Amino acid sequence: QSHFADGQALAGKHILITAGPTHEPIDPVRYIANRSSGKQGFAIAAAAASLGARVTLVAGPVALDTPVGVTRIDIETALQMAAAINAALPADVAILVAAVADWRSDAAAIKIKKDGNAPAPLALVENPDILATLAASPQRPRLLIGFAAETDHVLDHAQAKLARKGCDWIIANDVSGDVMGGSHNRVHLVTATGVESWDELPKQAVADRLVSRIADALT
Ligand code: CTP
Ligand code: CA
Repeated sequence: QSHFADGQALAGKHILITAGPTHEPIDPVRYIANRSSGKQGFAIAAAAASLGARVTLVAGPVALDTPVGVTRIDIETALQMAAAINAALPADVAILVAAVADWRSDAAAIKIKKDGNAPAPLALVENPDILATLAASPQRPRLLIGFAAETDHVLDHAQAKLARKGCDWIIANDVSGDVMGGSHNRVHLVTATGVESWDELPKQAVADRLVSRIADALT
């Protein structure tokens, strides 16, 4: 839009982002989690804010500073992440980058002690799928983007997820190498019309490129 300066291509838009892992307590000192540094999601939040968007970042436990101009909501569990997303709606765009733990356990109130016997098996319950829930919600953002970190058959899994979850784009990456916690990422933008594979780039460059594609898609 010509009346906006370049730096304000997302002015007036609310962009909701999840990032980092979730932690699902087993007892007060132990938890289940996915590997995630939060770097890619935080980089996307920074990029969106720098284009003038109002950014809400729902963050799991990570060791990262809040990007300038971003409203950050810290959560620990998947259920808390789902509630924070609900409370932050409506949004024009949601980008769910978080590595949500797929299962939770009923946390013990006090620390479980080892006693030399085999531990009791953990009873696991599946967490709600925040992305799929948002896709089916009356408050579905106009542009809904998921991530898929895969170790094998990356594009097949990503295309299946796009269809299964009802989102608009999936950003897929291969995590069989040492991407986790690293500073670079090689991603594929998977949409209903095809796959676009980007070169390996610093995570901030991936974020800048994604956010500029989002700005294009909204105009
Ligand atoms: N996601 C979510 N809520 C969950 C699980 C995943 O919102 N409970 C989102 C992630 O943030 C990501 C996308 O869904 O944007 C894909 O996550 P992923 O773990 O790859 O998908 P799953 O359906 O959980 O499949 P998998 O068995 O490969 O873990
Ligand atoms: Ca999962």
